[in-house]
Amino acid sequence: MRKGILSLTAAAAAMTLGLTACGGESGDTSTAQSGATPAESKVAGKVGVILPDSKSSARWETADRKYLEEAFKAAGVAYDIQNAQGDKTQFQTIADQMITNGATVLMIVNLDSGTGKAVLDKAKAQGVATIDYDRLTLNGGASYYVSFDNTKVGTLQGEGLVKCLTDKKADKPIVAELNGSPTDNNATLFKNGYDGVLKLKYDAKEYVKGPDQSVPDWDNAQAGTIFEQMLTEQPKIAGVLAANDGLGNAAIAVLKKNSLNGKVPVTGQDATVQGLQNILAGDQCMTVYKAIKKEADAGAALAIALAKGEKPAASGSVKDTESGADVPAVLLDPQAIFFDSVKDVVADGFVTKDELCIGEFAAKCAEAGIQ
Ligand code: BGC
Repeated sequence: MRKGILSLTAAAAAMTLGLTACGGESGDTSTAQSGATPAESKVAGKVGVILPDSKSSARWETADRKYLEEAFKAAGVAYDIQNAQGDKTQFQTIADQMITNGATVLMIVNLDSGTGKAVLDKAKAQGVATIDYDRLTLNGGASYYVSFDNTKVGTLQGEGLVKCLTDKKADKPIVAELNGSPTDNNATLFKNGYDGVLKLKYDAKEYVKGPDQSVPDWDNAQAGTIFEQMLTEQPKIAGVLAANDGLGNAAIAVLKKNSLNGKVPVTGQDATVQGLQNILAGDQCMTVYKAIKKEADAGAALAIALAKGEKPAASGSVKDTESGADVPAVLLDPQAIFFDSVKDVVADGFVTKDELCIGEFAAKCAEAGIQ
């Protein structure tokens, strides 16, 4: 499986490079919303991308949009990238408009599988090719899926928390779990991953299972309220498995109010500037870096091929647990990041030293070997 995934990724990258070589400028993109019209572009088709929101993670607007735009521009393909801002009705309206405006490929990050499926069904009925980006739409029947190995993301989070609790020599720590949105299939996969690690510790009576709750829509503010309640009911929480950096930051804010930050390790995901700064400050134990440029490049390569009327091959696949279907897939490899490896994320160009190492973080950056 892993080999198949890698070879597909390489093929996708090669495809992107090939397209870059023959692509040109794609017209006025100053609004950062859409590229060339089909008439101006080198490719007949047009790609529509719907991002989910800008609040559940900084990644969608700061990373995914940027990298997708770069790939479409380089290929000279007309595109339209919009953000549903967490609104399911708006999500469907955007999809309808994209199809009316001539999208021949639709790539979505669903807000839940039900509304995602409705959009995919409509697109397919109109002959529009479909790609699930990052989140699999259960029973959605998209033609392709591009993401990371999300169970592995969760395993890295679980193992990361174990490492940090071991470093702190925690004795029978009570662990709280702040899970992602119950309507996001990824949140289920992350949880499968970290529970696989933590359950062994609970069963061996090395750790004590504490409060375990999902955060609707990955809402960071709600995560703060939920964690505050958890800590009130169980003041001895000694470790927090938070499913992404936003949820982790919400827990850290509550820990700070109780002078517990830095004492209670907290996990994360997405290697956001805020998450990395929390790691540098010693308030967050780890994050998971997902090289979003690779994900965007793989998604764009598929979308561009489909826009050209090709049928790109996918050597990997994932099982849709609801429909039982095997969905052709590109799954990338996530990486755990601790204090000493924050520099890897900078070296990869995902965040810059300038944005990360401001003010109080300058000294910490030097300590962490960030050049
Ligand atoms: C993504 C994460 C993100 C979360 C909240 C998940 O589906 O895989 O990267 O943090 O959604 O937006």
